[in-house]
Amino acid sequence: MPEVAITGTEAVTNSRGDVRNMPTQSRTAGAPGDVTWLFLSVGLLTLLALLGTGMTEDPAFRLQGAILLAAGVASLAALTIGIGNDRFRSDPSRYADGVIRAGVIATVFWGLVGMLVGVIAAAQLAWPNQLYFPEHGWTNFGRIRPLHTSGVIFAFLGNALIATSFWVVQRTCKARLFGGVLPWFVFWGYQLFIVLAAVGYLAGITQSREYAEPEWLTDLWLTVVWVAYLLVFLGTIWKRKEPHIYVANWFYLAFIVTIAILHIVNNLAIPVGLTEARSYSAFAGVQDALTQWWYGHNAVGFWLTTGFLGIMYYFVPKRAERPVYSYRLSIVHFWSLIFIYIWAGPHHLHYTALPQWAQTLGMTFSVMLWMPSWGGMINGLMTLSGAWDKLRTDPVIRMMVVAIAFYGMATFEGPLMSIRTVNALSHYTDWTVGHVHSGALGWNGLITFGAIYCLVPWLWKKPEMYSKAAIEWHFWIATTGIVLYITSMWVSGIMEGLMWREYTPDGFLANSFIETVSAKHIQNVIRVLGGLMFFSGTAIMAWNVWKTIRMAATDTKTVLSSTIEPQLLPAE
Ligand code: HEM
Ligand code: HEM
Repeated sequence: MPEVAITGTEAVTNSRGDVRNMPTQSRTAGAPGDVTWLFLSVGLLTLLALLGTGMTEDPAFRLQGAILLAAGVASLAALTIGIGNDRFRSDPSRYADGVIRAGVIATVFWGLVGMLVGVIAAAQLAWPNQLYFPEHGWTNFGRIRPLHTSGVIFAFLGNALIATSFWVVQRTCKARLFGGVLPWFVFWGYQLFIVLAAVGYLAGITQSREYAEPEWLTDLWLTVVWVAYLLVFLGTIWKRKEPHIYVANWFYLAFIVTIAILHIVNNLAIPVGLTEARSYSAFAGVQDALTQWWYGHNAVGFWLTTGFLGIMYYFVPKRAERPVYSYRLSIVHFWSLIFIYIWAGPHHLHYTALPQWAQTLGMTFSVMLWMPSWGGMINGLMTLSGAWDKLRTDPVIRMMVVAIAFYGMATFEGPLMSIRTVNALSHYTDWTVGHVHSGALGWNGLITFGAIYCLVPWLWKKPEMYSKAAIEWHFWIATTGIVLYITSMWVSGIMEGLMWREYTPDGFLANSFIETVSAKHIQNVIRVLGGLMFFSGTAIMAWNVWKTIRMAATDTKTVLSSTIEPQLLPAE
């Protein structure tokens, strides 16, 4: 692009109407180089999608090709309009907050969708006869379930991780996000991944690897988006103006790098054909199982744990206005956590064809995991030292503290369940589902809500959320919902485990499988109620977020600045 070599400064109005003086020599005529590259790449991909959709004989592939084609055409149109209106000019003296605002909205939206689908799945398990429609295959539990798990883990929590990491890395590095338009590519590319995966599940496109159900085409797309995410994050750290790299960034970086490795290795596969949706895994037999659970458990370790510890290490001290309790502990538990987590996967394969020594290794490392996990919990909770009174007055702090307590509970229960003899009872039962949701709802859900309640006023320049009472309601409804969910699953899980192993005096099984299913009907109904409460809490939050965004603009002195320099605020 030809440079316009003018010196001095020039008043520039950005898309939100803020007028700033920008050094004119940094401006160029036409589209910035990164936008031109993006335009060309999207054009090429759209062409490939057109060819693939036209040439394929596989209806599943045609469906995915059509989604890619639609996304490509929409992106090209948006890019053309943006270039025409000169919207891609970024102001290096300001943080890139637009993409975070979009990320927060996406988090709330996908949270509602994913949880609603969870409630539907729970209702299908409570009333299987009434909610079974064989003529509509896409409504089957087998398709709804991965829609729920991916909806909450990848769409809801994934957007939360990307949005919060973009906020944290900029504020703690005192640098604008690296890569010009790249953060926006990460955001939209990630939404496209979600749509491709979700529509695929309903259409029956799955490679049947838990938490990695999307087929090869969607996997390749996620790899591209993830590498761009890594570049944005690393690039921002690289150009930081703060010499120290704050500990939350360590956790985020470990999450991004490890997920990239896990995703690539677990999804190694050979497509049936270049215009076919299905593929064959590169692994077989017990190696396949071990690769899957090496991935599966580290998805728990690095997505649901490490990334969220990054959130905890920024938002808890910030909200409590206290320093991290022990910086040394944060470093020690970081290294021990990531070293130990990577070995724990075999606890998902007890009593299988996996060699016994490998099972024992997984079990031992899982028990060891208790310590670094509680290191994080203690550090998070003790950060409130001297500010415990805020538990009474600030429902957001209360939400985050209860989240950390649930983290402590789930990471106590997990090592217990990994012991082979305990797992003999818990495996295949609802106990596992209870454990999952005490971590997922209690830890991931509540800490995400806390971060959203902090971020919304900061991002939209409001002194606080629209309704504090609504946050109180959200807290109590969600917490009661979690308790109902997990206690009902403990009861049904232990009950069905015991029923499965009950013998008659003659040595026959005392209960048929279907008897154990009908025995847990009441618990399943209670789970629907708990889930519905948790979902309602999220709906209250969505309303509160909407009202806050629509609130009249206020005195900007009370909110966090979006200007990088000059900074008269204490380090964030
Ligand atoms: C509205 C609240 C929710 C309800 C009603 C709900 C319901 C369900 C149901 C019915 C299942 C299937 C259990 C089975 O196969 O027996 C499930 C599985 C699962 N859900 Fe949720 N869920 C909710 C929220 C969440 C959230 C926020 C997460 C966040 C990560 C989550 C993560 C999972 C996971 C990982 C599984 C798979 C569990 C396993 O395989 O053991 N859920 N959920
Ligand atoms: C020290 C930490 C933890 C350990 C050692 C651990 C251990 C375990 C064990 C033994 C199982 C049952 C495996 C089976 O019988 O198949 C399990 C399942 C699971 N845990 Fe944890 N857990 C830990 C923390 C967490 C946390 C914080 C979460 C957050 C949400 C979580 C999410 C899950 C999920 C999603 C599953 C279900 C996997 C499946 O689909 O079968 N875990 N965990």
